[in-house]
Amino acid sequence: MATDVLVVGSGGREHALAWKVAQSSRIGKLYVAPGNGGTRLIGENIPIQADEITKLVNFAKEHSIGLTVVGPDNSLALGIVDAFQTEGLRIFGPSRLAAYIESSKAFSKKLMQEAGIPTAEFQIFTKYEDALLYVRERGAPIVVKASGLALGKGVYVCETVGEAEEALKEIMVEHAHKDAGAEVVIEEFLDGEEISIHALSDGKDFVMFPASRDHKRIGEGNTGKNTGGMGTIAPVLEVDDSAMKEIQKAVVQPALDNLASEGMPFSGLLYPGLKMTSRGPKVLEFNARFGDPETQVYMRLMKTDLLDILEACADGKLAGKRIEWDSGFAVNVVLASGGYPDEYKKGFPITGIEEAEKVQGVVVFHAGTVYDGVLKTSGGRVLGVSAVGDTLKGAIEKAYTACDLINFEGKYFRRDIGAKAL
Ligand code: AMP
Ligand code: GLY
Repeated sequence: MATDVLVVGSGGREHALAWKVAQSSRIGKLYVAPGNGGTRLIGENIPIQADEITKLVNFAKEHSIGLTVVGPDNSLALGIVDAFQTEGLRIFGPSRLAAYIESSKAFSKKLMQEAGIPTAEFQIFTKYEDALLYVRERGAPIVVKASGLALGKGVYVCETVGEAEEALKEIMVEHAHKDAGAEVVIEEFLDGEEISIHALSDGKDFVMFPASRDHKRIGEGNTGKNTGGMGTIAPVLEVDDSAMKEIQKAVVQPALDNLASEGMPFSGLLYPGLKMTSRGPKVLEFNARFGDPETQVYMRLMKTDLLDILEACADGKLAGKRIEWDSGFAVNVVLASGGYPDEYKKGFPITGIEEAEKVQGVVVFHAGTVYDGVLKTSGGRVLGVSAVGDTLKGAIEKAYTACDLINFEGKYFRRDIGAKAL
């Protein structure tokens, strides 16, 4: 029987999820709220924002939506899943309480401590003076984090004590992140290569995706400010089977067990970000949702029907399910607006996407785009140019050939996505 699906969100992640769900043999109508200039080509964009929970519930009821798939962390933290379930509506994602694992870094660090999950040493502070004393005592490098959701901007990796003092002032005195900075986590700096892990769970069983790697800094060679993510590759070969088993056993299983034993079983996508340190894998953070731009590469490699697997999750029927993956590689390069992650201009016309998608293996996902008769830029991360190939090198070459065919004023992208893995 066909299922009508509502995808909530407007980024590249949501375009990729919608793109994959649209390929299901059982897809009925596909809606995206609010969607972007790309999702309108594969489904119907609905003018409801991702945080307008009551409106989304009403829409799902009126349109007999069979499954709602939530992209953004903010919607989860607001309790969208609880609101839908109260109305008997089927939805993919964790409850508000289970989503604390992302929405409160203080909660997440305490959970890791309790469950014995390897992570950076840390302390939690609510008083500026105490936090200041602690960074002076510990010295640099050191990492300062606003505990709450801060649009990916609440983490300060500080190379000097002075920088850490500045970060504390911004968060705790100037309230740059408002309530998200009411609690501050200060932790040890971890050295090593970063990887993203994705595990789908129905609250009882789980299935792991291959490892992927995001490139978070704005500049080539991993320099400059942190962003939402400038590009991804998957799989990451250096994370071999034994490393994946270790991560499953030391990180994913105990996190899910801990949440379940606390009465908040996690159903949805659990995404720990890890550093592969010389002392083994250590968790930087947990996310309670699909990664962006990790999802763009995962959807290119996934062979299994996404609708089937998301429904199984929402129904608590994941036991015995497997996900099949293509044997090749995928890469996604983000084209951003000049100036991002600081201020940037929008409203510039975008050209060349059709030509880019003629490059074999290339699919362009939209993020910050709108269509008002002309396709225009409307956000910091504008497009995700994805490519698949039998080799990582081949996939990267195709993606960059496509990137050069797309134009908009101020187009900025990193030329070194995946380069270190070659
Ligand atoms: P988070 O949102 O907590 O993942 O932090 C954003 C980024 O900051 C991460 O992707 C890392 O690149 C960096 N980061 C966070 N915590 C640490 C840490 N303890 N040591 C080194 N880098 C970190
Ligand atoms: N890839 C970064 C994030 O989704 O948070």
